[in-house]
Amino acid sequence: MKKLYILLLLLAAHTLVKAQKTYVVDLGKTGAEIRPEMYGVFFEDINFGADGGLYAELIKNRSFEFDQPLVGWIPFGEVNVLSEDPCFDRNPHYVRLNEKGLRRGTGLENTGFTGIGFKQNDRYRFSFYARSLDGGEKKFRIELINEANNPIGKGELHLSGSGWKKYECLIKATQTCAKGKIRLVLESAGEADLDHLSLFPVETWKNRENGLRKDLVEALYDLKPGVFRFPGGCIIEGNTLETRYQWKNSVGPAENRPINENRWNYTFKHRFFPDYYQSYGLGFFEFFLLSEDLGAEPLPVVSCGLACQYESTECVPVADLEPYIQDALDLIEFANGATDTKWGKVRAEMGHPQPFNLKMIAIGNEQWGEGYVERLIPFVKALRKQHPEIKIVGSAGPTPDGENFDYLWPKMKELKVDLVDEHYYRSPEWFLENAGRYDHYDRNGPKVFAGEYAAHPKNRDNNVASAIAEAAFMTGLERNADVVHLATYAPLFAHVDAWQWKPDMIWFDNLNVVRTPNYYVQQMYARNVGTNTLPVTHEGNVISGKDGLYASACVDKGQSEVIVKIVNAAAEVQDIHISLKGFKKPVKEATVQITCLHSNVPEAVNTVAAPHTVVPTHFSVQTNDNGFQFKALGNAFYVCKLKIQL
Ligand code: AHR
Repeated sequence: MKKLYILLLLLAAHTLVKAQKTYVVDLGKTGAEIRPEMYGVFFEDINFGADGGLYAELIKNRSFEFDQPLVGWIPFGEVNVLSEDPCFDRNPHYVRLNEKGLRRGTGLENTGFTGIGFKQNDRYRFSFYARSLDGGEKKFRIELINEANNPIGKGELHLSGSGWKKYECLIKATQTCAKGKIRLVLESAGEADLDHLSLFPVETWKNRENGLRKDLVEALYDLKPGVFRFPGGCIIEGNTLETRYQWKNSVGPAENRPINENRWNYTFKHRFFPDYYQSYGLGFFEFFLLSEDLGAEPLPVVSCGLACQYESTECVPVADLEPYIQDALDLIEFANGATDTKWGKVRAEMGHPQPFNLKMIAIGNEQWGEGYVERLIPFVKALRKQHPEIKIVGSAGPTPDGENFDYLWPKMKELKVDLVDEHYYRSPEWFLENAGRYDHYDRNGPKVFAGEYAAHPKNRDNNVASAIAEAAFMTGLERNADVVHLATYAPLFAHVDAWQWKPDMIWFDNLNVVRTPNYYVQQMYARNVGTNTLPVTHEGNVISGKDGLYASACVDKGQSEVIVKIVNAAAEVQDIHISLKGFKKPVKEATVQITCLHSNVPEAVNTVAAPHTVVPTHFSVQTNDNGFQFKALGNAFYVCKLKIQL
């Protein structure tokens, strides 16, 4: 009986594991160069990705410039918003507090972005610009407050003199709290004016003031992105031309950068955030600096004179585009110009005399139609004339096929842009079916920049199935690295309590970061780029979907490594044999390091409560007879790496 049972078990196992497949990796046929910057990130201030996210400022509406100037604030006592004789000409509002000695007190509370997160024993830098109306000393009590309305940190500031001055103090939090607030109380009788009230953790990325949230940058750093596309997305275009992203407003002293609306505040009526603005505290200087810190090529996108085509028909007449084109030229000067040029000097004054070494610029976001092409032409002309060294990225529109796409690609070829930005937000099935998308692309035209893509399952979760579909699709990007030069998943960040769009690569709340399965797929590619493609075939064919299997391979000449990526998008285990061919020396008894992202549950996700549900695991196998084998689990992505002699 027992024997029969074992036999049945073996039979069942046999039917679950398909026959072994032999995949041949041929090192004798080294292929196209893979751009070292190929896999990167796309940053947009959506889902509170900048203010309330990456930008570490904890106070919302710090300069009282929102359309309703006290949004985010709870004033008590006599507090008025004024703008005469301001501290900052481009952010003229400030508050006047008048303490008359009544028992209720005079001051303000700020509730941050869905509350303020404090961490026990962390220090916070509070600052404001202030003046005392009668010039006499005014004492302020500043408190960090937890959810139970109890102070968990205290500071004091004494201001004097009737001119605007900056004051700051450090406050230590005695408790951790996810949704706290800050309170300021004027404790002296009389009047004081306050502006640009700011609270940052002392510990930011590289401990910079006006800095970035350390844990979020660490997640980016661990990704090892090759390119950093910014600042969007639709926010570049604006819903009106007036509200487009103007990079010049985002540089210089942070206090005097004029705020802008964030069009994502009202784009989706079911995800309405009327308190979502762009402070530009995280501006173009900070984006360039971050790209540099990450070792990623900066890729700024500028307005081409079309407001968001989904929302408006507003556009700049082609004859009046000159200021827009000048903005693009000035941006190159800001990034790369000598310190005695107008914009190079601004960069140097902000603390970076060395150029940022900008190499590419995108004109327009996902624009479409004749109106786009007409406007792109003068940009291309001016850029080619003044900056032939800069690569130009044009758009293929918002979808990966259809009328706009079919119209734009030939136009981009005619205009000889260097790269064409394709966007695809499609189902996981689409990603699986389109892994061969680039196998037959024109090899002589502009290169492809997959500038925004993500697999959208029905519930739009960042689940394992979507991540595996993206991994499968990306084998096709790698196989066609001669055509595809850049790829950036989108969007990058989302606050769990304040998102407008999902899925997103990295989720966070006020205290925690969640790396999604999709993040790990991106990381497994970005950390294993290789220098050249290698063919990997099954019975002479590329491996792109048969039996749910996908594969790509590359060699890293610098590291003397062969890297094979295998995706098993099927549910069942598959037995894979990698045969290594064309090697100088046989690879016997070498160790193959394998990283695997897998879950038996395609719907599995990582959450704040369980951030490590789906994470990569590592194991190794030994080579034998110039190859290696392993059982590829269902819903799994493998990166296999072995040292070779070149
Ligand atoms: O990534 C979200 C949005 O998708 C971008 O802002 C836009 O370019 C696209 O429509």
